[in-house]
Amino acid sequence: MSEMKVGFYGHVRQYRSIQPEIDANIKRVLESGEYVQGPMNKQFEKELAAFYGMKYAIGVGNGTDAIWLSLLALGIGPGDEVITHANTFFATAEAIWIAGATAVLVDCEPKTKCIDPAKIEAAITPKTKAVIPVHLYGQCADMPAIKKIAGQHKLFVIEDNAQGIDAAGDTFKVGELSEATTTSFISQKNLGTFGDSGAIVTNNEQINQRARLLRNHGSPARNVHSFGYNSRLDDLHAGILSAKLKHIHEWNDHRIQWAARYTAGLKGAKTFTLPWHKPAYRHVWHLYVIEVKDAKKRDAFVDWLVQNGIDAKTHYSIAIHQQAGYPWGKSARIAGSLANAERISATCISLPMYGELTAGEVDYVTQKCLEWDKANA
Ligand SMILES: Cc1ncc(COP(=O)(O)O)c(C=O)c1O
Repeated sequence: MSEMKVGFYGHVRQYRSIQPEIDANIKRVLESGEYVQGPMNKQFEKELAAFYGMKYAIGVGNGTDAIWLSLLALGIGPGDEVITHANTFFATAEAIWIAGATAVLVDCEPKTKCIDPAKIEAAITPKTKAVIPVHLYGQCADMPAIKKIAGQHKLFVIEDNAQGIDAAGDTFKVGELSEATTTSFISQKNLGTFGDSGAIVTNNEQINQRARLLRNHGSPARNVHSFGYNSRLDDLHAGILSAKLKHIHEWNDHRIQWAARYTAGLKGAKTFTLPWHKPAYRHVWHLYVIEVKDAKKRDAFVDWLVQNGIDAKTHYSIAIHQQAGYPWGKSARIAGSLANAERISATCISLPMYGELTAGEVDYVTQKCLEWDKANA
């Protein structure tokens, strides 16, 4: 028997910490009689837009839909190329394919694991229409550099912020250097509901208007339609998210505190490296990812942590272009070496990370990692 159990997620702890606020919003929605595109959805969209300091937020079914609906709203589709990086979560590339465009995969920066701006520049062709940087693990990509390249080549930028709500750069906020920012509210995200949903946040009138139509059967009014889809944020989820949004900054502060505690405790380790972040950025630690130096030992390390009661995981242990059957008849192009992405997928381990962890749990995980390190150095 392990000495302690440390889960990877703290959903129930988080719910209990603000249960009266969440329950009150659920009750309000249930008693309103309006569950789809009702008053709670409208309220949350306003709150989310204000949180980002943007004009519009459009609630949609999930974070994947938020990306492809943004691409469609910008008129991007078959024949167009969209650049992203190979070590993001699969859905970023999937959304490009759903929009009918070509996914162009480039490498990431070795330290931040976010898209490498120099690799974007090298991948641009006359067909390139957009770039999707991902604020991976909760740290912003180098948006000023990306915006500069996009400006020179007249490309749209869509920020995939599924992992980085409330993150910020040194001189920039998420949202202000792109046409649109997308997010996911699936349970395990920093701001997550008890299920699926997502949103697009933008200052762009065209994206706002088109995405609102596209998510709701192309319908601006009852019985009036153009071609569209069904991808809406239900009011129950909006109510849960509205309650949680008020706490997200504080919860992310707790993540930052746990990340610092891991880093201080693990700094002497010899068999793995620790995550690096740009000092002046607000990294919101969706994930705390260490990298083993010997890829052959990664899986054994994860198994050992699990045997010791620690629910360690990997994000993501198979890079998109290395998935079986890639690219499934879809249009895709690999631009340049993907050596960093491939190395990270072979060496990454995510340690438990959520605001409701306790110091004792973080210290237990640290102690077990150091025991492994000592035995394998
Ligand atoms: C970087 C990234 N992009 C997109 C998504 C897709 O979001 P969803 O699962 O809500 O469709 C996720 C998370 O699941 C993600 O982590």
